Amino acid sequence: MEALDKDGIVALLNSEGSEMESLLQRALEVKLSHVGNSVHLRGLIEYSNICRKNCLYCGLRSGNRKLERYCISEEEVLSSALLAHELGYGSVAIQSGERDDPEFVRSIEHLVRKIKEIDGGSLGITLSLGEQSPETYRRWFEAGAHRYLLRIESSDEELYYKIHHKDSLHSFRRRLDCLESLEKTGYQVGTGVMVGLPFQRADHLASDLLFFKRMDVAMIGLGPYIPHPDTPLYRFRNLIPSPEKRMEMTLKMIAVARLMMPGINMVAATANQTIDPRGREKAIAAGANVIMPNLTPGEYRENYFLYPDKACVKDTPDQCQRCLDIRLAAIGHRIMYNEWGDSPAFLKKQATRQNGCPEDCSAEHRP
Ligand code: 5AD
Ligand code: SF4
Ligand code: FES
Repeated sequence: MEALDKDGIVALLNSEGSEMESLLQRALEVKLSHVGNSVHLRGLIEYSNICRKNCLYCGLRSGNRKLERYCISEEEVLSSALLAHELGYGSVAIQSGERDDPEFVRSIEHLVRKIKEIDGGSLGITLSLGEQSPETYRRWFEAGAHRYLLRIESSDEELYYKIHHKDSLHSFRRRLDCLESLEKTGYQVGTGVMVGLPFQRADHLASDLLFFKRMDVAMIGLGPYIPHPDTPLYRFRNLIPSPEKRMEMTLKMIAVARLMMPGINMVAATANQTIDPRGREKAIAAGANVIMPNLTPGEYRENYFLYPDKACVKDTPDQCQRCLDIRLAAIGHRIMYNEWGDSPAFLKKQATRQNGCPEDCSAEHRP
């Protein structure tokens, strides 16, 4: 594991040409030796595009009146989960715009329990449902969810408030509290940021990486920012790097994250595919090891419009599976079917919690 300081990280993030290539190569080697060449899948179910928040970059923001809102029925969620199981995906991820009303909380709890009934609990469940109370996180955990993704979006408070309103609904402090609460509840916690935001500099991204490390997260999901015309941040699109540069910076972020945290799970985000046709494979080759193929029923997909030109919106699960098999084989990787694919980082942390320190545990983890 490399102990990098902020200046060292900034230097890596600014690397170009052959220096950048050797960073990506080094990250690939570290990944292969810690988590191997297998890629775990999480079948993605985009449950609802109804959102109470108004994030300045996101197409699902409540202020976007152009979007037709939906919420998938229980039957449809369960048939998508069943499909994930039949395709051997091992896990599902339920993602949604943010809601915290009792009906929503109950529905998710119920759905998690129902998904857990499939084949004796064989599917792992990741939730990505935003900021909730500790009580809600606990209910969903007890129902059977065991991973939770909540991106910090930016760990720099000033930048955070350039991309969110500064009000009680979009509080930076609350987001940090939620990440802590998820950790305490016992979830494998994932966080991440968008790369290439207006006003974002390399030193912001370096701080993000140090934040992930400090939080000792089990998973990271980061991807390029893609300007959405129906959002307020769109007017700053001239300030952001080109798609090629955003792709490169995303790959360097993934690579440095892998060097700093060799045992984590890292998602090759769909947004990579939007700005580069080989974006997801490139992310895998730079250190990512998880892909989230879309299993949302076709009729809803176009309305889960986080950003324009999302990949695979028109492809069926069968097509994506064949496509992924071929693309991953071409870069010497293979899909791990029928496994939850928990990160070695989390398994080690769990062992530490239960039995004290494992033998190979580094001093910084010792209780
Ligand atoms: N570009 C890239 N990613 C985005 N997200 C939301 N809007 C955009 C965008 N315009 C990501 C955020 C959020 C997740 C649901 O989608 O990081 O956490
Ligand atoms: Fe809602 Fe999440 Fe989009 Fe913010 S980023 S508007 S919370 S869906
Ligand atoms: Fe969906 Fe290639 S992964 S079409």
